[in-house]
Amino acid sequence: MVMQLKLLALTLLLWLRVEGALGDPQISLLNKGCSQYNATNLSNFYENLNATLDNLIAQVRKQRKHFAMAQEARGADPVYGMFQCRNYLSTADCAACFAAAAAQVRNCSTGANGARVIYDGCFLRYESYGFFEQTTMPGDSIICGNEKAAEANGFNATAQQVLKDLQIATPKITGYYAATKTKVAGGAIYAIAQCAETVSESGCLECLTVGYKNINLCLPNKNGIAFDAGCFMRYSETAFFADKQTIDITPLKKGGSSKKGVIIGGVVGGVGLVVILLALFALLRRYKKPKKAPRGDILGATELKGPETYRYKGLKSATKNFSDENKLGEGGFGDVYKGTLKNGKVVAVKKLILGHSRKIDEQFESEVKLISNVHHKNLVRLLGCCINGQERILVYEYMANNSLDRFLFGQKKGSLNWKQRYDIILGTAKGLAYLHEDFHICIIHRDIKTSNILLDEDMQPKIADFGLARLLPEDQTHLSTRFAGTLGYTAPEYAINGQLSEKADTYSFGVVVLEIISGQKSNEFRADAEGEFLLQRAWKLYEENMLLELVDETLDPEDYDAEEVEKITEIALLCTQASAAARPTMSELVLLLKNKNSLGQMRPSMPVLVQSNFRTKVETSTSTGSSISNATATVSMLSAR
Ligand SMILES: *[C@@H]1O[C@H](CO)[C@@H](O)[C@H](O)[C@H]1NC(C)=O
Ligand SMILES: *[C@@H]1O[C@H](CO)[C@@H](O)[C@H](O)[C@H]1NC(C)=O
Ligand SMILES: *[C@@H]1O[C@H](CO)[C@@H](O)[C@H](O)[C@H]1NC(C)=O
Ligand SMILES: *[C@@H]1O[C@H](CO)[C@@H](O)[C@H](O)[C@H]1NC(C)=O
Repeated sequence: MVMQLKLLALTLLLWLRVEGALGDPQISLLNKGCSQYNATNLSNFYENLNATLDNLIAQVRKQRKHFAMAQEARGADPVYGMFQCRNYLSTADCAACFAAAAAQVRNCSTGANGARVIYDGCFLRYESYGFFEQTTMPGDSIICGNEKAAEANGFNATAQQVLKDLQIATPKITGYYAATKTKVAGGAIYAIAQCAETVSESGCLECLTVGYKNINLCLPNKNGIAFDAGCFMRYSETAFFADKQTIDITPLKKGGSSKKGVIIGGVVGGVGLVVILLALFALLRRYKKPKKAPRGDILGATELKGPETYRYKGLKSATKNFSDENKLGEGGFGDVYKGTLKNGKVVAVKKLILGHSRKIDEQFESEVKLISNVHHKNLVRLLGCCINGQERILVYEYMANNSLDRFLFGQKKGSLNWKQRYDIILGTAKGLAYLHEDFHICIIHRDIKTSNILLDEDMQPKIADFGLARLLPEDQTHLSTRFAGTLGYTAPEYAINGQLSEKADTYSFGVVVLEIISGQKSNEFRADAEGEFLLQRAWKLYEENMLLELVDETLDPEDYDAEEVEKITEIALLCTQASAAARPTMSELVLLLKNKNSLGQMRPSMPVLVQSNFRTKVETSTSTGSSISNATATVSMLSAR
């Protein structure tokens, strides 16, 4: 009996092997892109990249997966990878497609910290951040054949219907994949739709809805392909998979309740065989040795989870009913409390005061998801959220050393040495550069200030509150974000005209750097400095070639290199120039800060606008520090409404 089973299994295995080897990995290149940003530590990066790619191919080969993700996050340059091949490919073809794709992504310039390649048969992508839930991204995403179908009208209508059906049905199917063959006059339309398995059902639908719109532009041509970060659609008059590999989507075509997995299993050609084969092997095993405990998934599932949903009751008890004793601070978007969860984990709990608007109701969850996907060592990690009636609460990782303003102006004033200050400046620049340029959408912070820069137990900076300004109602963004920013940190073009760009953050960053160097608050007069604001004072000292006068008296001159401090002060002045265009981007700033040489040709030019801006502010109020604080207070109340 055992012998016979073994033989049967072997025969089947051979048959499958042969079929696998005969296939076509479908590696005509549809799209390829390389990140223009480089990893910081190449050897660390390549170790992570190699481990990620090895992990992915192992899942394809050994576990016969058509979808795999992996990550290696050791050191400064994490690598997150995702691979998917069309379900109609055999394991051998899938692996061959992977090999071609891996060669492509490795062919980017040395150290490129992200890359993606899309073939007919598969796609492969890696990034320095977790992008697994991303569905759509900007850019060209269709490829159309150039020959018209013979019976254009009939073809057009049928193809449209088929693609629409696929758009509706695919998100409801476990594994998010469907393939159909539909007869038309003189032939058939072969079509597939597929989503990355890591996106949500609604994310899949959203992506395919865009894909459907795009692929429609190809009709009535014979072939069309639409692709995006989280999905893929293709139709053709020519068969690109076998007839027996189709899936019956009739029950799922219409909207309505989800029927995941109803029709899967035994429908895809070959799957039936695999099932028989697996059953046979399982049977054989029983004759041999006792079953081992199944091996856990290699992936740390916890790392890949989306934002957590917290229960209000839990957060209430974690923060001792949001008691003052647990209050860590009051931010522009709401108060923050220290919370200790039941499992002992310490978190920061932020009760949002954003007011009530449709935008917040509708977009809160998707924004939270987006923000929780931002992973960078200089950005505070959003762990999850809680919705309680009208109340919105965010849960963040806890930062042991609270915020930078305490170390500059508060209780711990004077305790930072130059090295620590420099590290904070550089880390903050890196965090902002990531938000502006490396995350898949550009996030402008709009409220960079010392109280939004938190410090971990190693005194490394992490920026807080990013992404929240996105929740402000559209019709009010101009108004409220003008005030979302904080007086003294806000770029003139933004404060006055509401013109928002990344350069508004550059400006605020420059002000923060001046504060870090001087220990003086930006919106405070200093009696011993002829009643000047920090920025005015800095520019004046720069013009008088006396920049070192600005340096915080609590810093020991033995402790810093005068030239370096001067250079970094000049960099701060570059950031605060009147013309937004003249200010460097954050990634340029990272390079400038790291570079040991002088700035060379780059000379900051006088921020005329800023001065007149300040003067206006000063003249319309009475020119004392306290009236400025009043102005700030009114402003935050406005934004809180
Ligand atoms: C770069 O990464 C390697 C390997 O992970 C590590 O040994 C080395 O210390 C890193 N270098 C720097 C400058 O961080
Ligand atoms: C990564 O893999 C490539 C290609 O297989 C190899 O040339 C390189 O030496 C590997 N790098 C590291 C750091 O393991
Ligand atoms: C790698 O890039 C070079 C030039 O950019 C190109 O000639 C070569 O064909 C590429 N290799 C692969 C495997 O695509
Ligand atoms: C990344 O490195 C490549 C060469 O390896 C270089 O050409 C490119 O300018 C670098 N990009 C950045 C943003 O530093």
